[in-house]
Amino acid sequence: MMTFIQIVYFITAVFFIIGLKQMSHPSTAKRGIVWAGYAMLAAVIVTFAWPGLSNFFLIILGILIGGGAAWVIAKKVAMTDMPQMVAIYNGMGGGAAGAIAAVELLRHVGGHGEMTMGLLVLALIGGLIGAISFSGSMVAFAKLQGLINSRAVTFPMQQPINMAVLALALVFALMYLFGLQNTAVVTWFFLLTLLFGVMMTIPIGGGDMPVVISLYNAFTGLAVAFEGFAIGNPAMIIAGTVVGAAGTLLTLLMAKAMNRSIYSVLFGAFGAVEQEGGEIAGSLKPMDPEDAASVMAFANKVIIVPGYGMAVAQAQQKVKELMEELEKRGVEVKFAVHPVAGRMPGHMNVLLAEAGIPYEKLYDLEEINPDFETADVALVIGANDVVNPAARRKGSPLYGMPILDVDKAKQVFVLKRGRGKGFAGIENELFYADNTNMVYGDAADSLNKMVQAIKNL
Ligand code: TAP
Repeated sequence: MMTFIQIVYFITAVFFIIGLKQMSHPSTAKRGIVWAGYAMLAAVIVTFAWPGLSNFFLIILGILIGGGAAWVIAKKVAMTDMPQMVAIYNGMGGGAAGAIAAVELLRHVGGHGEMTMGLLVLALIGGLIGAISFSGSMVAFAKLQGLINSRAVTFPMQQPINMAVLALALVFALMYLFGLQNTAVVTWFFLLTLLFGVMMTIPIGGGDMPVVISLYNAFTGLAVAFEGFAIGNPAMIIAGTVVGAAGTLLTLLMAKAMNRSIYSVLFGAFGAVEQEGGEIAGSLKPMDPEDAASVMAFANKVIIVPGYGMAVAQAQQKVKELMEELEKRGVEVKFAVHPVAGRMPGHMNVLLAEAGIPYEKLYDLEEINPDFETADVALVIGANDVVNPAARRKGSPLYGMPILDVDKAKQVFVLKRGRGKGFAGIENELFYADNTNMVYGDAADSLNKMVQAIKNL
C-alpha cells in the first residue's frame, strides 16, 4: 500500500510542476490551476489509505468545513477583493503547517512520536515559519479588508522589540530541543512566534502589502516542506518546495517592480510617511467621452493603460470593443500593463485575457515606456498610482516605484469617476498637466459612450 501511495504522490508532484509551468502564461494558466487542483485532490484521497490512519470522522468533518467555506467564499468573492482572499487562504496554509508541528512536538512530549533530533529541528523550523505566516497573513488580511488601519504602525524601539520577541521564541525552541519537553514550552514557543508575525506585519504599510503577501506565501510553502520532512510525507515536501520557490521568485519580482528591497519592505515602515502637502500647478480639464473618442479615432497610435478602476468597473469587455473599433479605422492599439496595476499580480492580464484581448498586444513597463513619446493618445482607464509622476520625486511615498510614462504622450485621457485617490492615497499631478483631459464617469459607461461615438463617425 505504501508503494502505491508513494507512486500517486510522485505523479501528483509531476502534475504540480506541470501546472506551475502552465500558470506562467495567461493562455494556459487556467488549465494549470485545474491540473494542480486535481493532483492535490488525488493526494488527499490517497492519504486516506495511509496505514494506521484513524479518526476518519474528524478528518472528513474538517475537510467538509474548510473545503465548504473555501468553496462558498471563492464563488462569492469580488475580483477586487482577491488579495485579501489570497492572504487569508495563504495564512491558513501556514497555520496548518504550524498545527502539524504543534501536534508532532506534543506527541513527542507524550512519548508517542519517534522523532530524531534532526526531525524535531525541522518540525520547530516549520512551526516557526508557519505560525509567522499565519498571524502575519491575518494582519495583512485585516489591513486590506479595512478592518484595521492600513497605514504602517510604528513605535519607538520597534525593531529591537520585535527581535527580542523572536529571540525569546528561539530560546523556547532550544529549551525544547535540549530536554525541557513539556506542553508549556511548546505553548510559549507558538504564542511568541504568532506574536512576532503580528509585530512584523503592523509596521508595513498597505502599499507594500502585495509584496508581503507574496513573501508569506513563500513562507507557507517552506513551512509545509519542513513539516513534510518531519512527518515523512513526500507530497508535502514537493508541494511545499514548489510553493516556496515560486513565492520567493514572485516576491523578488514584485519588489523589483516597485523598486523596493525586501529589507526596506520588512523594516522600512513604508506608508508611515505623511502625505506631502503643496498645491499642484494647472487645472483639471474635463472632456466628454464622445470628444475624446473622436480624437482617438483619428490618431495613429493609442496606448491603453488599465488600472484598478477598470477592474472595479468590470470594463474589460468594453475595452476590447473600443480596441476593435479603433483598429477597424487603422489605429494602432497597444496595452501598457504595470506589474502592480490593480490589486494582485497579473490582475490586468487576467481581466484583459478574459475579455479576449490578444496577449501579444500587452506590453510590460520596460517594453512600452519608450513608445509613449510617439503615441498620439494615452488612454488611462482607472489607473492612478502606476501613472503618478510623483514617483520620480524624492520625498514622495511613491518615490522609486517605476511608473508608466504616459505624460510623454501627445494627449492623455484619464477615465475615472471623480477626484478619488489611488491606493497610495496621494494626489496625481498628471491629471493637472496641460496635455491631460479628465473623462469623468464609471469607466464602463465612458467606454460605452466612446465606442458608440466612434461607430457613429
Ligand atoms: P489605483 O492607484 O488604486 O487607482 C485606481 C483609480 O481608479 C482611482 O483613482 C479611482 O478614482 C479609479 N476608479 C475606481 N473605480 C472606478 C470606476 N468604476 N471607473 C473608473 N475609475 C474608477 O490603481 P492603479 O494605478 O492600478 O495602482 C494600483 C495600486 O494598488 C498601486 O499603488 C499598487 O502598489 C497597489 N496594490 C497593488 C497590488 C498588486 S499586486 N497589483 C496589490 C495591492 C495593492 P475615482 O475614485 O475618482 O474613480
